[in-house]
Amino acid sequence: MAQRETWTTRAGFILAAVGSAVGLGNIWQFPFKTATNGGAAFVLVYLLAAVLIGLPTILGEFAIGRRAKLNAIEAFDRLDHPAWTVVGGLGLFTGLWILSYYSVVGGWVIRYVIGSLTGGYFGGTGAYFGAVSVGWEAIAFHGVFMALTAGIVAFGVEDGIEKATKLMVPSVIVMLLGLAVYAFTLDGSGPAYGYYLSPDLGYLANNLGSVVPFAVSQAFFSLSLGMGAMITYASYIDKDESLPADGGLVVGLNTAIGVLAGLVVIPLLFVQFGTVPEGAAGGGPGALFVSVAQAFTDLGMAGRVVGALFFFVVLIAALSSAISLLEVVTSYCVDKYDWDRKATAFGFGGALFLLGTLAAWDTAWLGWFDTLAYSVLLPASVLLGVIFVGWVYGPEAVDEIKQGSNADASVARLWIWWLRTVVFVGVFVTLYLGVTSIYASPGLPFL
Ligand code: PHE
Repeated sequence: MAQRETWTTRAGFILAAVGSAVGLGNIWQFPFKTATNGGAAFVLVYLLAAVLIGLPTILGEFAIGRRAKLNAIEAFDRLDHPAWTVVGGLGLFTGLWILSYYSVVGGWVIRYVIGSLTGGYFGGTGAYFGAVSVGWEAIAFHGVFMALTAGIVAFGVEDGIEKATKLMVPSVIVMLLGLAVYAFTLDGSGPAYGYYLSPDLGYLANNLGSVVPFAVSQAFFSLSLGMGAMITYASYIDKDESLPADGGLVVGLNTAIGVLAGLVVIPLLFVQFGTVPEGAAGGGPGALFVSVAQAFTDLGMAGRVVGALFFFVVLIAALSSAISLLEVVTSYCVDKYDWDRKATAFGFGGALFLLGTLAAWDTAWLGWFDTLAYSVLLPASVLLGVIFVGWVYGPEAVDEIKQGSNADASVARLWIWWLRTVVFVGVFVTLYLGVTSIYASPGLPFL
């Protein structure tokens, strides 16, 4: 067997992990979930969820991956707990499910790179979004995005991922910072900051049952948890690296980029609409596209270039995340069944393209796919993983967290205790509320 690779540098791993984490979850989804869940109240709960639940959970996935040094499915065999392979399996399924509609939104982003250059949306951003986000055009661009993802996974992830993210992460930050400052200077953005940054505790108290599960699942989605991605990436980390330090950095950077995206989208929505509008094209899935596109329109000719650049950077962020989703299943089939890498990547890519055509046809389907992922699949998959790490793999996991970190052993002990109590209860409640909300209103497009 060939010598298994490890990341060449610490930065290599961190960048790849951040590349997986930073994506449409931060730039597209976080601002619009904030807008549909009460603004700052959601932001507050999200921040708590990222630190109190996301960070300990990511450490659990790191501990599994680094010790097993294998893909997210076989890792459980290698750790001598073959029955728990089901955790990897559920994660893999969840990741594929998500990729099917993630790619639809990725297709919108490609469409907007072009729309910026040609000035396509300059005649009216809301109507443009309505026209390109559904139907045949959306299906075509969804196909292009999926083909790009499969293509990169088929031809050498390593170089591609490391290099792309090295450029992507700093450019995302610079572009978002620039836009945030620009939005701040515009008339009418003022009230957005109160909405986004000063939580309405009354709203929170009345809507705790929906805000909490959304925020927790958003943290999982955004940190690429519960889908085997972090297990897979951690399988290439060196023994003498500190997992808590790496985890802290990934969570910190990822959260900061999400919050920054909100500082762009929410003020721009206020400038345009005077509030956060309801509906797909306003405060819903269209929020990023409608609000940011409007800002570019206002810039006139220069807006075309800036717009194209912006959406191009978002595209790279989306691709580096999508790749990590498809890589989980590909590395498994290649390792285990010796399948051809190219055929595997394009085979799964093709199947997911077909599944995703539903979401591309109608945003109601996209919403439903997303709801199922958020309310059931993600929390269920993370919960199983937490039970595994907390109770089955416990002492070894503690050992692995201690490896390479010079923090004293009490940190690792505190971590496992926290995982078994706060994290377990938090994820359990999230899953429970998610399942009951779906049960109460399945929200199926055809019902
Ligand atoms: N975290 C990515 C995002 O926020 C999505 C993703 C999830 C990527 C899971 C890989 C694995 O866009």
